[in-house]
Amino acid sequence: MDHFQIKNGILHAEDVPLTRIADEVGTPVYVYSRATLERHAQVFREGIAPVGRSHIAFAIKANPNRAVLRVLAKQGYGADVVSGGEISRAISAGMKPEDVVFSGVGKTRAELEQALDVGIGQFNIELEEEGVVLAQIAASKGKTAVATLRVNPDVDAGTHAKISTGKKENKFGVAIDLAPGIFDRLANLPGLSMQGVALHIGSQLFDLDPLEAAYGRIGQLVGDLRGMGHKIERVDLGGGLGVPYKAEENPPSPADYGQMVARATEGWDVTLMFEPGRVIVGNAGVLLTKVIWIKPGVIRPYVIVDAAMNDLARPAMYDAWHDFAAVQPTGERMNANIAGPVCESGDTFAMGRDIDAVASGDLAVFRTAGAYGATMASTYNSRPLVPEVMVDGDQYAVVADRIAAETILDAERIPDWLA
Ligand code: LLP
Repeated sequence: MDHFQIKNGILHAEDVPLTRIADEVGTPVYVYSRATLERHAQVFREGIAPVGRSHIAFAIKANPNRAVLRVLAKQGYGADVVSGGEISRAISAGMKPEDVVFSGVGKTRAELEQALDVGIGQFNIELEEEGVVLAQIAASKGKTAVATLRVNPDVDAGTHAKISTGKKENKFGVAIDLAPGIFDRLANLPGLSMQGVALHIGSQLFDLDPLEAAYGRIGQLVGDLRGMGHKIERVDLGGGLGVPYKAEENPPSPADYGQMVARATEGWDVTLMFEPGRVIVGNAGVLLTKVIWIKPGVIRPYVIVDAAMNDLARPAMYDAWHDFAAVQPTGERMNANIAGPVCESGDTFAMGRDIDAVASGDLAVFRTAGAYGATMASTYNSRPLVPEVMVDGDQYAVVADRIAAETILDAERIPDWLA
């Protein structure tokens, strides 16, 4: 459930009409609902209640806006981060360093140092050499890094190839058959406290069976590691739960997921770590846009909107579907293609779709844009960087400015020798 509903004929975010935000902030603009974020955070927490000891680290790559992180920090959420920049964001938004998990296949030395200096709670190690380097740096600082070994369970998550991460040919984790040996060697290094294993098999998952299969393999591994004399205190189950991008879609709920996890991990006697991203923020945001033209097409009209693939990359990158809805629907419908102004045919949000009838100047939204939306935006075609707004009841705030094309221009130099 979200808080983007029609009231008096106008689509609102909570109690704020989107027409007001468009007038005052301009378009395109991302709009988030605080109440929806809070609700999703609570529903996820309640969903996993049956699993026992647990910790939730929001995958901030899904939406790193600091106001969003602050809302989740107030809900007791930690963060799953994948870069030094994300570490800084999580902490400056109010997340406790000990509640932060550092994932990522290419952590640099500088990032490992930064993470140790701020006191990150858990490192998810992706390869043996990373563990060796982390141990050295930690020992040289007189610290001990708490870590898990990320394992690649070799299961097909059944999602888009570009967001699938748990097959053996993917770049993530160590092969499960090599994991005991690597774990054993890392566990003997000073500076490192190896406390468990981690996995994440993919994103936008609609089927719990591959997850359950992966957890089964991890359970086996935990048993093997304990058999070798290792103390296993935590298992990081990653994220991946899908969200409905179309009204008729029905992905497993956090409660369905929690029940499966409770069953699959029964008797593990560990703290379970969760790294949800999309399921928390996806439906808590829309991308508000204005129709520039209705361009007659050969087969059907093109609705040309002022948002483009640089603002919302998912359709161009993953052929992703985002529902399109008029802010002031008339009840009329039309069949059209929807595209942005960027000079690529890939800058198309939909082809031949039945949508609310719109005309030049009308406002509309792409729904379910709260996850992997603004954060994947760029300034391609020298377009401004898209701003973000958060609504809370009848008030709203701009939580990220629109960065003008000219500001970006100011950060560029023409060297003297080109004078
Ligand atoms: N943990 C790890 C280690 C991850 O790599 C990811 C996502 C997550 C947690 C969170 O997964 P979620 O719960 O959001 O599914 N840009 C793509 C999605 C990339 C996901 C990358 N990893 C998209 O727009 O669909």
